[in-house]
Amino acid sequence: MEKILNLISEKVAAAFEAAGYESEYGRVTVSNRPDLCEYQCNGALPAAKRYHKAPIQIAGDVAAKLAGDPAFLEVQAAMPGFLNLRLAPAFLAAWLEEFRGAPRFGVEPDPKAGRVVIDYGGANVAKPLHIGHLRSAIIGESIKRIQRFFGNEALGDVHLGDWGLQMGLVIAELQARQPELCYFDPAFTGEYPAEPPFTISDLEEIYPAASAKSKVDEAFAAKAHDFTYRLQQGEPGPRALWKHIMAVSTADLKKNYDKLGVCFESWLGESDAQPYIPPMLEDMRQQGILVESEGAQVIEVKEEGDTKEVPPCIIMKSDGATLYATTDLATIRQRMETWKPAKILYVVDKRQSLHFEQVFRAARKAGLVEPETVLRHIGFGTMNGKDGKPFKTRSGGVMRLETLITEITDFVRAKVEENQLVSGEDVENVTAKIALAALKYGDLMNAPTKDYVFDLDRFAAFEGNTGPYILYTIVRIKSILARYGAWEDLPIAAPETAEAKDLMLALTRLGDALELAYRDCAPNVICAYIYELAGYANKFYHETRILSEEDKEKQKGYIALIGLTKRVLETCIELLGFEAPEKM
Ligand code: ARG
Repeated sequence: MEKILNLISEKVAAAFEAAGYESEYGRVTVSNRPDLCEYQCNGALPAAKRYHKAPIQIAGDVAAKLAGDPAFLEVQAAMPGFLNLRLAPAFLAAWLEEFRGAPRFGVEPDPKAGRVVIDYGGANVAKPLHIGHLRSAIIGESIKRIQRFFGNEALGDVHLGDWGLQMGLVIAELQARQPELCYFDPAFTGEYPAEPPFTISDLEEIYPAASAKSKVDEAFAAKAHDFTYRLQQGEPGPRALWKHIMAVSTADLKKNYDKLGVCFESWLGESDAQPYIPPMLEDMRQQGILVESEGAQVIEVKEEGDTKEVPPCIIMKSDGATLYATTDLATIRQRMETWKPAKILYVVDKRQSLHFEQVFRAARKAGLVEPETVLRHIGFGTMNGKDGKPFKTRSGGVMRLETLITEITDFVRAKVEENQLVSGEDVENVTAKIALAALKYGDLMNAPTKDYVFDLDRFAAFEGNTGPYILYTIVRIKSILARYGAWEDLPIAAPETAEAKDLMLALTRLGDALELAYRDCAPNVICAYIYELAGYANKFYHETRILSEEDKEKQKGYIALIGLTKRVLETCIELLGFEAPEKM
């Protein structure tokens, strides 16, 4: 479906040509002076230089050619040479009617769409999911949905941190507490028990205790390192315990992600990449790109034109240990072998950007990806407290995600109850939806790279630029539609008021917003768009008697317009990763 802006541009370009000027001057943009016009073309200004005429004269010539065009209500040549345009109501309605019926509202899929792996979540097993992982989950989920909207086959991979020292720490602490467990008996030959010797609450307490202990107790720290090593060598006892830790942790992680409306197609982790390391190292050696530097094996990745220093990518330390980068490279190899993606996107803290720069360069140098494979790091900033420092609990610790969700939910529930928005069984359901919208919109409305301040009062407010305000707008429309009856097939009518027209013009801008959000991996563009759209929807609602309108034909047009607005808003919040309740 042709964009409305392109349609208008074509008309204006043709008018330039008909008036004897080059058509390239006919590019139209959305007006930056909505008080004067809806669209504008400034082409007469540069054309004036070329044709040695006054710009206003050229604008006047073009306006004369556009005079009879039914697409325009008004075409005005304004000093010094602008063309100010207003659309004819019927033209706008006809365009929106096509928009209403088109799949994805006529937004074209990416012609280069393909398979894309999105690496997000990145939770570390055995450590509780904390605030640092929240943004990755929220932003990654939205980016995945946007990728799908544009025709990509998107696959979310949680890429668990399941292979590091934290595993050795937990195992060492378990041994200190329950030395009699069969996992620690080297002579044990039977089957290890199917039931884990701990619960998730135990684990949540064990890891911080072990981590603290390792900082003051050298012997304990050595043991944890030793267990990590033995686990990685595949020794049965530690390996069996590791499996228990994985099972208990992932069940809990899934529960938490589920509450966030975040889901992963793949639950692989760093451990799954390990088998890919030896053949990868072998290839790198054969290619001669592994060089020795201070005892370590590294790949040089600096490039001509670098403005900052990009140090070599360390692949293996002198003691033979591999690193975070090694695992990420092996993961690329694994992904290319199993999924052959056209793109891999990483939604990870922006403080890891140098790491990804090194990994991407090393991956290309080692030929792990095709030259055209897109590797992109979408780095995000920190969520801060009101003091501007990284978000903490009242007691000063790092807040666990579950605690945060509970806190927001309690806060929202109190509001729902106080305002008697719903009653009985609906309270929990509606509360959960509003809480999720508050949390996600509060995050996504900021450009990913920006740090932002977590402010529950602001995020959960029903007015202003918030998730609950967007939901409220949708719910309000839903309630009018429910009272009206069947609305889905009513056609869009020509607008008769300024409020109706403004709302319709805002609807036409959906495609641009989605395309920009897709191109830049920037869900914040969608937030800005729906905030604007919701504003026009509410203005229209305030200024128009919808249900009490006596002219039934007129009423149909109003209903069709808010029905379409609801569908657009719902499509957008679905891309952001939350949904509206029936009532609130
Ligand atoms: N587990 C890592 C962390 O907590 C994030 C993993 C990000 N993804 C990746 N492929 N490195 O920092």
